[in-house]
Amino acid sequence: MPKTKIALIGVGNCASALVQGLQFYSKIEKENDYVGLRYPSLGGLTPKDLQIVAAFDIAEHKVGKDLSEAIFAKPNNAPKVVKVPKTGVIVQKGPLLDGVGESTRHLIQFSTAKEVDVASVLKKSDAEIVVNLLPSGATKASEWYAEQALTAECGFVNATPTFIASNPAWMKKFTEKGLPLVGDDLVDQIGSTALHKTLLQLLSKSGAKITETYQLDVGGGAESLDTMDRTRDAKRAIKTQSVASSLPYKAEVVAGSTDYVDFLQNKRDSYFWISGVYFCNAPLRIDLKFSTIDAPNAGSVLFDVLRAMKLALNRKHKGAVEPLCAYGFKHPPKMMPLEAAEEAFKKFVDENS
Ligand SMILES: NC(=O)c1ccc[n+]([C@@H]2O[C@H](COP(=O)([O-])OP(=O)(O)OC[C@H]3O[C@@H](n4cnc5c(N)ncnc54)[C@H](O)[C@@H]3O)[C@@H](O)[C@H]2O)c1
Repeated sequence: MPKTKIALIGVGNCASALVQGLQFYSKIEKENDYVGLRYPSLGGLTPKDLQIVAAFDIAEHKVGKDLSEAIFAKPNNAPKVVKVPKTGVIVQKGPLLDGVGESTRHLIQFSTAKEVDVASVLKKSDAEIVVNLLPSGATKASEWYAEQALTAECGFVNATPTFIASNPAWMKKFTEKGLPLVGDDLVDQIGSTALHKTLLQLLSKSGAKITETYQLDVGGGAESLDTMDRTRDAKRAIKTQSVASSLPYKAEVVAGSTDYVDFLQNKRDSYFWISGVYFCNAPLRIDLKFSTIDAPNAGSVLFDVLRAMKLALNRKHKGAVEPLCAYGFKHPPKMMPLEAAEEAFKKFVDENS
């Protein structure tokens, strides 16, 4: 079966996890040996059916390098878990636009290479799906690459919190071009938002009344620094809205990123506080810390979304594909409870395989 051809916009930590994951799982023969994936096989596709055919960045140490090398270039700090052989994909230079914010500028040396015609490179590489992995504050750049995907007739996966799949104007553009679009803001495989929502649902289903809750996290990747600078409020609004939707009543809810701690490297520490009452107003408190590594947390969901996008392309879905958005993203066009989103996703895969 021909592989699903993918282009990466931004060769940062998430791209590193994705490329390393493709290599890591390429050696697996039996389905039971696929440890660490939610769906080893999805609609008949395994991670071996995914192939990166193009990649774009603006950083001196990444542009012009083979992808296998660029994913380990500074300031990337996602852990190296596997040696990636040469891929033959050379990272090409796209336009900078608002790709790099003030706070991360000192970490990134800009490439002086010539910018390529991104849409032509996408076409020549036969890319079917463009995955946007730019920093979260790169709004103009994200939109510019979405236009390139439209020109090159590729489906678009928006992992960033820029509103594209949830923006009616972009939905219309992709619908008119007959192309699928998913986003916005990828969910983590073992995410603090999902864990927070699950805890709140468990407590409220048991009859507890939650009065106040917050979830804040600190991380050491460039993305955490960029978030502090440019998208803290937007990310907080997305997460808070998503968490609040898991309670069947109003409560004081705050959820979002709080700070950058460089020595954490690509690690993330998430803190949860939940306060409420149960039988006869007896008080309950949860005070919890949850530690993960950021980039690998994107890998499994990206694998799922990319394979489901291939099904969407095969079946000529156009515009925002709601079940995929609700399953894989924190700010979909239509928010669904976690279980309903998973069911809708599985139904989509079954019906389109
Ligand atoms: N678990 C996760 O890591 C996770 C989960 C959900 C969402 N996301 C989102 O995924 C995105 C990527 O996260 P990351 O940790 O890989 O970020 P990162 O900062 O490590 O990587 C971003 C990359 O984009 C490059 N870049 C900047 N401007 C560019 C331009 N104009 N053209 C091409 N490349 C450009 C940078 O040089 C860098 O290599 C973020 O928007 C983040 O919010 C990540």
